[in-house]
Amino acid sequence: MSGLQRSVEAFKAAGEPTRLRLLALLSAGELTVKDLTDILGQSQPRISRHLKLLADAGLVERHSEGAWAYFRLADRGQAAEIARLAVGAAGGQDQQLLADHGALVALRNAQKARANAYFSQVAESWDALRRIHVSEETVEAAILAIVGRRTFGLLLDFGTGTGRMLELLSGRYERGIGIDSSRDMLAVARSRINEAGLTKAQVRLGDVTSPDLDGESADLITIHQVLHYFDDPRTVLYGAAGALSSEGEIIVVDFAPHDLEFLRTEQAHRRLGLSEEQMAGWARAVGLEVADCKVLPPSAQAGERALTVCVWTLEKRNSESEDRHGL
Ligand SMILES: C[S@@+](CC[C@H](N)C(=O)[O-])C[C@H]1O[C@@H](n2cnc3c(N)ncnc32)[C@H](O)[C@@H]1O
Repeated sequence: MSGLQRSVEAFKAAGEPTRLRLLALLSAGELTVKDLTDILGQSQPRISRHLKLLADAGLVERHSEGAWAYFRLADRGQAAEIARLAVGAAGGQDQQLLADHGALVALRNAQKARANAYFSQVAESWDALRRIHVSEETVEAAILAIVGRRTFGLLLDFGTGTGRMLELLSGRYERGIGIDSSRDMLAVARSRINEAGLTKAQVRLGDVTSPDLDGESADLITIHQVLHYFDDPRTVLYGAAGALSSEGEIIVVDFAPHDLEFLRTEQAHRRLGLSEEQMAGWARAVGLEVADCKVLPPSAQAGERALTVCVWTLEKRNSESEDRHGL
């Protein structure tokens, strides 16, 4: 197919009300078919048919993850340009698109509330739970090796939970702030910080996708086992990029891609691990780049629930061409 013909096909695919609504929704981040079905109130086969047409025309990309499939706007090439053009031309003030956006926000809030309820329930037992899938010692040794002998003015720990990162890295920061949206997790973290006598550490209630830091910036941000709770991990990386000093560093610890589907139903996971390619793309989209990635496979003795963990180091990208589209 010629470039001209491909453009025509892409314009044709975008030129239909439901598909334009889908493109507008996907411009705000990755969504599953179920999310889109809920928001648009149309049947799943119908939405899937529209998504297939959009994908065939190169306007959106599909990524399967266990029983779920995520869709997102294509971010490169001619069709990606056309997708953005179509969303831009539809305008931010259209009543239908505004209503769809409102429904998306409500859906995200409901998902957040479910995750919060889960964390309230497990707050007391979290320290035991977090060891089920990984060798904590190996992961923590990798984090300490990355940090080396350096010390930091301000450390931010995103999704601090019980505050383990603040404890592990104590002595390496002048001020450490853990941010979490679960009051129950923070209650455990506070008592732990007090017991350990971590006078330079504090925790705050907050949302890591839009941290409120009064203009302060961090030299080190840790995001330990948090990103897989988000359909669109870019939103967290966006919050981190905004809170990071120009020379700062972000350490992200999360699972490599896996197929333990039950973690979605039993432990509120959204993503079944994160691939190196995904991380590179998400980082790029928010003006960051991956400086390093350490892959830590489970030990030979680990059971079938054991998972491979990746430790990524991210830095600010030295480029003006940041793509914050849709965030
Ligand atoms: C799996 S726990 C990890 C806790 C800790 N980093 C650790 O590894 O032990 C994920 C944490 O992220 C927090 N969290 C989830 N969504 C959040 C959000 N939008 N803003 C702040 N914290 C969030 C949860 O409340 C939970 O404490």
